[in-house]
Amino acid sequence: MNTPKRYTITAALPYTNGPVHIGHLAGVYVPADIYARFQRLKGNDVAYICGSDEHGVPITIKAKKEGVTPQQVVDKYHAMIKDSFKEFGISFDNYSRTSAKIHHDTASEFFKKLYDEGKFIEETNQQLYDAEANQFLADRFVVGTCPKCGFEESYGDQCENCGTSHNATDLINPKSAITGNTPSLKETKHWFLPLDQYEPFLKEWILEGHKEDWKPNVYGQVKSWVDDGLRPRAVTRDLDWGIPVPVEGGEGKVLYVWFDAPIGYISSTKEWAAEKGIDWEPYWKDKDTKLLHFIGKDNIVFHCIIFPSMLKAEGSYVLPENVPANEFLNLEGNKISTSKNWAVWLHEYLVDFPEKQDVLRYTLTANAPESKDNDFTWKDFQARNNNELVAIFGNFINRVVVLTNKYYDGQVPSPATFTDIDEDTLGSLKKYPQIISKSIERYRFREALVELMNLARLGNKYLADEEPWKVIKTDPERVQTILFVALQIASGLAILCEPFLPFTSKKLKNILRHSELDGLASWDTIKTANGLLPAGHQIGKGELLFAKIEDAEVQQQLDKLQASKQANEAANKTVAPQKDTIEFDDFTKLDMRVGTILEATKVPKTKKLLQLKVDVGIDTRTIVSGIAESFSPEEIIGQRVTVLCNLAPRKLRGVESQGMILMTDTPDGKLAFIEPENESVANGEQVS
Ligand code: MF3
Ligand code: ZN
Repeated sequence: MNTPKRYTITAALPYTNGPVHIGHLAGVYVPADIYARFQRLKGNDVAYICGSDEHGVPITIKAKKEGVTPQQVVDKYHAMIKDSFKEFGISFDNYSRTSAKIHHDTASEFFKKLYDEGKFIEETNQQLYDAEANQFLADRFVVGTCPKCGFEESYGDQCENCGTSHNATDLINPKSAITGNTPSLKETKHWFLPLDQYEPFLKEWILEGHKEDWKPNVYGQVKSWVDDGLRPRAVTRDLDWGIPVPVEGGEGKVLYVWFDAPIGYISSTKEWAAEKGIDWEPYWKDKDTKLLHFIGKDNIVFHCIIFPSMLKAEGSYVLPENVPANEFLNLEGNKISTSKNWAVWLHEYLVDFPEKQDVLRYTLTANAPESKDNDFTWKDFQARNNNELVAIFGNFINRVVVLTNKYYDGQVPSPATFTDIDEDTLGSLKKYPQIISKSIERYRFREALVELMNLARLGNKYLADEEPWKVIKTDPERVQTILFVALQIASGLAILCEPFLPFTSKKLKNILRHSELDGLASWDTIKTANGLLPAGHQIGKGELLFAKIEDAEVQQQLDKLQASKQANEAANKTVAPQKDTIEFDDFTKLDMRVGTILEATKVPKTKKLLQLKVDVGIDTRTIVSGIAESFSPEEIIGQRVTVLCNLAPRKLRGVESQGMILMTDTPDGKLAFIEPENESVANGEQVS
């Protein structure tokens, strides 16, 4: 085996202002987990690092809204996120948090070192200020038009539309997110990292050095920013939630969240190493360490420009070898949104689909937004489970295990002579570790997963062609060979699926009793062994690896999404403000009565008007009503209505209307009648 390499693998620290959803999983945590598990299987030294990002404006906004402290907000979501990652099998070596003391200390020291070495520019200038809220406006406290792309809802530090990072004062038409006021300008002192000075370094390191090996989407974004020219970025803020600025003049100020958060990778590594009693420094400072940042595309500027410039300024750290950023995952055709509750939340999935972690991992990998945005649908989730995991992978394993138990009491049979097909099949199996490795090493996890399934397909086809269940009657010795070969494939699958389907791998290794093989069956031995599972090895009884997902289960999820869509529409609908006050006498002038529609016809040459005959108790009268876009004439015969009877008659399209039907609006923009709740109310009864 090669000498083990050291990998420091980071996954973007999630903000603790809400739970984790499938977009986060598909973009960051699942691919990073596949990569980390793979490197461990290859015998490499891995530190897979993450933690909660607990500072920043969105957390304080959330706390204000809920009437709790920011600390309460982060405590709640930190626990929730940490637990759900664990249950989902995300194999972090450490999951820390940026409110931890070790992080405050590490980030403060980092800042102080750059400060002492004169790496910052200190500048007093005008910043946006909300006088009513008595607060400076930075980052998400301010919204305005992006100077680069014209998007009208850009935040102070970053435009979500074009990804550009800017200073809050660059926004056109800024508005305070707290009061809605147009901010004024007020003087304040801050420290800036002069990114312009790092341009030559970034050009050489990324634009020249990583043109070939970084993903085109990452490389392209970096190039466009660097080509546009970089400007100094403030790394401190006038806020009261965050890490206090540890130098003179920093009172009342905190570190910018994007300055402290990436340092969280370092503090989390320190925390982990201390617990293990090892030295953390090689994981960040040894030039042979491969540092990799797994992130979503909105984080590219911070991980490819700002953090590397910080590391470079500090001087003793390695730079990332790659930043395999993913695009975004949509849900049922719409952008995932925390605030609109348009998401599949991990903690809810784990309750709704217990023991089905691998199904979601599988679907998110098969559909990963690796090179473009992608869509998650529940129908696809169901199909991937039923048609791939159950029908291909599960079916193959089940047949092998059942037949081995049935014919040989669960003992791996001795092969007789191998036919060409047997040799070919075993030969193909040996190639899979290399094929899958290559894809994983190039961060092509979808491709790697397809190859894994191809191995299961190979197994299925082999059994279907060789038909041991038939041959057993004529040539039992041949069946020994067939099942021997099939068992080797099953064993290969158990090992190779581990990065993608860790729960399945564990179950399958358990069925095949890999633990009794003294480590002989491993990623690297597949290519040499003719027998991962030697003849005579005892395997266990079968166990269902995957179960079919029924229509009703996915329908329930679709209903849940539909409900949150409706709740949103209702919440977003602006209710008209109250009209001017009237006196009681004004009200009593209105003669409103219950009636019934007896006849209805369309008013010719109009889109909106229906001519109605309505029994209002006093008489039956003609009313022209603008409801034709919501109702057909036929469907409203017999409809109970409320009528304003003493409205002065007026002619509409030549027909005199003698009153008005009272209507209201539905969320989808249609009209609805106001009718008495009790059917026995007679026509002519007054509304009062
Ligand atoms: N919390 C950020 C987000 O969710 C990611 C922070 S990554 C780190 O977009 F590098 F700052 F840690
Ligand atoms: Zn923009």
